[in-house]
Amino acid sequence: MSRFIDELKRTHRCGQLRAANEGEIVVLFGWVASRRDPGGCLFVDLRDRTGITQVVFDPQYADKHPGAAKHGSADLVLEAHKMSEQIRSEWVIGIRGLVVSRGSNKNPKIPTGEIEVLVLEATIFNKAETPPFEIADNIDTREEIRLEKRYLDLRRAPLQKALQVRHRVNHATRNYLSDNGCLELETPFLVKYTPGGARNFLVPARLSQGKFFALAESPQLYKQLFMVAGFDRYFQIVKCFRDEDLRLDRQPEFTQIDIELSFTNQDEIFRLIEGLIFAIWKAALDIDLKEFYPSGRFPELEYEIAMRKYGSDKPDLRFDLPHVDLTDLIIEKSGGGVPFWSEITDKYKSGALRSDIKPEIIKALVIPASANMSRPQLEDLEKGLKEIRGFRGLARCQVGENGEWTQSPLAKSITDEARLAINAACEAKPGDIIAFQFGKETLVHTVMARLRNDVAKRMGLIPEYGHGGKWNFLWVVTPPLFEFDEDTGKFAAAHHAFTRPVDDHIPLLETDPARVNCYRYDVVLNGVEIGGGSGRLHDPDVQARVFKVLGIGEEEGKEKFGFLLDALRSGAPPHGGIALGMDRLSMLLAGVQTLRDVIPFPKTNQATDLLTGAPVEVDPAQLADLKIRTVQ
Ligand code: AMO
Repeated sequence: MSRFIDELKRTHRCGQLRAANEGEIVVLFGWVASRRDPGGCLFVDLRDRTGITQVVFDPQYADKHPGAAKHGSADLVLEAHKMSEQIRSEWVIGIRGLVVSRGSNKNPKIPTGEIEVLVLEATIFNKAETPPFEIADNIDTREEIRLEKRYLDLRRAPLQKALQVRHRVNHATRNYLSDNGCLELETPFLVKYTPGGARNFLVPARLSQGKFFALAESPQLYKQLFMVAGFDRYFQIVKCFRDEDLRLDRQPEFTQIDIELSFTNQDEIFRLIEGLIFAIWKAALDIDLKEFYPSGRFPELEYEIAMRKYGSDKPDLRFDLPHVDLTDLIIEKSGGGVPFWSEITDKYKSGALRSDIKPEIIKALVIPASANMSRPQLEDLEKGLKEIRGFRGLARCQVGENGEWTQSPLAKSITDEARLAINAACEAKPGDIIAFQFGKETLVHTVMARLRNDVAKRMGLIPEYGHGGKWNFLWVVTPPLFEFDEDTGKFAAAHHAFTRPVDDHIPLLETDPARVNCYRYDVVLNGVEIGGGSGRLHDPDVQARVFKVLGIGEEEGKEKFGFLLDALRSGAPPHGGIALGMDRLSMLLAGVQTLRDVIPFPKTNQATDLLTGAPVEVDPAQLADLKIRTVQ
């Protein structure tokens, strides 16, 4: 029987030993990362979550290290050496040995590279099948295979590190929020389906046949109930479930750092979150964000300006490249001779489009001459934009020595006056390229925002992936409360129906809902929305007026949100909150490009789990139990 574990306890982890440990007897447990047998002695790289230590099985040990003999028996050393001849990659072993210097064979690439452990005794805890891919930092194995064998993939150092970062984020979050008077409270996952927001996963309720729970898309309504109940300050690190179309930064099951405060205002919430983010960066990366934000505060940008300048409510401000909104200028020039533009300006002139909210716009982006963009490169940029639904093409021109436009069909029709005015508005210099997009506001913003990012990447202003040492935080504030849905001709809540309208805009609820902004805010890092929240609507009268705009009558309101409306009438303090996307934070902290690299057991883009094969069909008897029938 091996003495390991019961008698011989682990003394160190595999990434811990240094020159200072020379001469110590240690016990290490881990996985065989690699094994080399140059003849005579045999070397194993032993790995655990902290790193790698080289261990040596050497039958001649006593000759080389006379001091070692007194720590073990020659029989055990010979036995261990024999055993080492069988072991293979990923076998799980334990060793007891003497830490010795690697002399002139030091390995500067690993932190334990100055030493090795001379094995005096060893055991095999378990064998392992040959893994389908190498457990190494950089591998080009297909992601599907890595996800199928996720427990092996998770042994790789980048994933080990990413999950350790997550641990530190959790730890720092709990400490910081507890220290700031927040209580960690739990809310249910099985909740009532409420319309709006993300699509919910449904769960059949066996004991209430024909009825369904929804899996909570966030604890939103419950955290508001906590405020009504007097808990005052709440937080939770919580799983949320959304049946959405997935992208690199979206998972169907993800984690929020969810927060709600009573008797608060936007500034207090911002301060709390800024402090939390400082604490997280310190704990996760040992970075002091004070270097970047000496005041401790992140800048704020009005939603409307963010959209106008960058076409996005989550602009990446590691670089500038602003959009130029030419709509007013082109209206003034009656289309400037360009037929497509005249079509738009005519609609404003005739009153067919509202000129105060500008549903159709014309925008430009200057690609500086210094970007040295060749024609094929420009075409490539345009190709990328084709992924955007509704995109039809990008107009562009190159500005010549005297402000003339070349390489552009627009050059034929544009009037000189309009051309010079556009050059001036764009501050375009000879050699610059101006790209144009016009039409429906949302599409123009989407296309130009993507173009801005793609141009920045090509110009080397930001790295293709990762943060490039820049941490650009930003609050985007005061967006519109409603979104107008052109298909249904109705207003919908842009975020949710319980967001508080800006005080001065409340009278507009009846007269001009499109212009009602709200106390909603998003926190953005390097172009990624890492969190969002709002001041809540705790006044039942204003609530009823908001519902009216949304076309939700009294009865419908009661049926859908009755419990919350009742609660808001039962003594609700002014309150507000926010949720940070924990996975997105971890992704940015780890410098990886997908949430899958920071979630231990993620879903694919088709929302499947390749490790277990979920989702699966279930036994007809189970469905019968639930009184559910499937139709193909
Ligand atoms: P919101 O829907 O903006 O707000 O979500 C908050 C943050 O959660 C993250 N997030 C996601 N992360 C990964 N995968 C997803 N599918 C996903 N969806 C959202 C984002 C986002 O900023 N209850 C409100 C918060 C509040 O108002 O207090 C809410 O859930 O980083």
